[in-house]
Amino acid sequence: MCGIIGYTGPRKALPLLLQGLHLLEYRGYDSAGIALATEGSLRVFKKEGKLENLEAVLPASSAAKSGIGHTRWATHGVVSDKNAHPHLGSKGRVAVAHNGILDNWAEIRKELESEGVEFTSETDSEVIAQLVERELETRKPTEAVIAALKRISGTYGIAVAFADKPGLIIGARNGSPLAIGIGDGEAFLASDPSAFASHTRKAVFLQDGDIAVLQAKSWEIRNLRGELSDREAETLPARTAEGDKGIHPDFFLKETFEQPQAVARALGNGGRLVKDLGTAKLGGLDMSPRDIQGIREIVFVAMGTALHAALIGARIVEAWARIPSRAEDASELRSANPIVNKDTLYVAVSQSGETADTLAAVREIQMKGGRTIGIVNGVGSTLARLCGSGIYVHAGPEHSVAATKSWSAQIVCSALLALAVGRSRYLSLGDGRRVVEELEALPGKIEQALALKSRVDDLARRWSRSTSTLFLGRGVLYPAALEGALKLKEISYVHAEGFAGGALKHGPLALVSPEVPTFALLADGETFDRTLSNMSEVRARKGPVVAVTNRDDPRLADAADEVLVVPPSLEVLAPVLESIPLQLYARAVASELGRDVDRPRNLAKSVTTE
Ligand code: AGP
Repeated sequence: MCGIIGYTGPRKALPLLLQGLHLLEYRGYDSAGIALATEGSLRVFKKEGKLENLEAVLPASSAAKSGIGHTRWATHGVVSDKNAHPHLGSKGRVAVAHNGILDNWAEIRKELESEGVEFTSETDSEVIAQLVERELETRKPTEAVIAALKRISGTYGIAVAFADKPGLIIGARNGSPLAIGIGDGEAFLASDPSAFASHTRKAVFLQDGDIAVLQAKSWEIRNLRGELSDREAETLPARTAEGDKGIHPDFFLKETFEQPQAVARALGNGGRLVKDLGTAKLGGLDMSPRDIQGIREIVFVAMGTALHAALIGARIVEAWARIPSRAEDASELRSANPIVNKDTLYVAVSQSGETADTLAAVREIQMKGGRTIGIVNGVGSTLARLCGSGIYVHAGPEHSVAATKSWSAQIVCSALLALAVGRSRYLSLGDGRRVVEELEALPGKIEQALALKSRVDDLARRWSRSTSTLFLGRGVLYPAALEGALKLKEISYVHAEGFAGGALKHGPLALVSPEVPTFALLADGETFDRTLSNMSEVRARKGPVVAVTNRDDPRLADAADEVLVVPPSLEVLAPVLESIPLQLYARAVASELGRDVDRPRNLAKSVTTE
């Protein structure tokens, strides 16, 4: 978590740093700060809370031509002004912004304190500033940073600015992403290149162990031994014009309404579907038909919403390809010392491509010789690079912390994988063609499901003050129920639980009461009648029930207080359509309760620490 930005060049640094922080705020918004370097001094401004708070204390203008900025998601030390970054060394000669977690900071702090260094924050990060400043007594800036980094263990992406060398910015990476942007006589440093992409598309992605030494007209990368490393700059893809909210009050709603386009793009606007062969064409997979036939198992790894999409992906793989498949919580898989089989295909699913737990799981699998591919939205992200092959989701930039369009596009990409693998094995031509038709029709059906908004808004007005909300589903709709609950708690802070319909009588039924609405997800298919029975069981205990269904069955009217009908589809694609009213409900409740829909408390868009 945390976002870092740095600039050096001929332009005034302050507005560029601020713009970068706005673009990085999705990485954390507990506090923000900026350090401006002018000859002989560093001026630091920092403030607890969202960027508006920092903006209120910044000078109207500053002549500084270089500086660094940081937006924080707190790990060590409470959310406060003094714990905000950048941190100054006690002599004010060095400012450091840090993303990551240090393991041995406490012992270094003790050592420095015994030498008389006075710390001003409770953070682990401040030790970097103090160490660099101590090393500066006897070394030049680059050597001082290297000497300091050799003392610390843990993860970091850092930006360092110097009072005595105002045009110099040094960055370093170990486990936390950092890229440099090379402009015309200017240079940028950022946790995510989108923070400088409007100024330059020429970028170098740092690797672990890299030290980037930036001046306005020069840049170089060294390793921790101080040796120069050869690195080529690459050109970032052209930016898409999706950076503002348009007519919508928040990104969450905008991105919810962008799902028809996001899913169409995930389908390659038709280019990933081969109609006559009833299959999918996935150039990025980099697997021959023989490789595909050799797969004995598919294991998805992911976190959060991506994990819920992966759970659905695993069920689609089993349905269409008849290969054992499962989805694992990446953080659990990593620490479980997984048994990695060479015939297993591991699929890492992630919107950002920067989720630390997912990256760690992929590294563990790769270290044990496993084959990994990614289903990733973040083009050029760490995960996409690490996997080297896979399926880009192409949902477009997702700004709201809570995922919406990446979720539906991830399910679609998993379905494309299942289709390609299925057709090379057990799925018939006829079934493959039917799947292609259903996938092609999906964007239009999502459009229809979005028309439920005003009815969902009414439900939110009725139940926004509920103490809890329950979501139940069976089969592929069980992960959709988990996702419905995650979305609601994430952005409205209303307690919510998702569970399998079959589990209802084994405990969750005790939660049912007239004040607790239950959303029951049904799809035309084998589980429909059993979920209908669940609804009756809830209603018999006076629990209000909303049915979300792709089959308009007359029995629903008796078993539910409200029935929300989405267009019919293949059962395995129902989660995409039935999630639409759930996303709209979460957003409507959050808005009824006056929450910050796009930036829910305590969260960040990319969870880049384990
Ligand atoms: C989703 O609404 C959440 N913000 C969160 O669970 C997210 O899906 C999870 O952190 C995984 O992120 P990723 O897709 O970027 O890997």
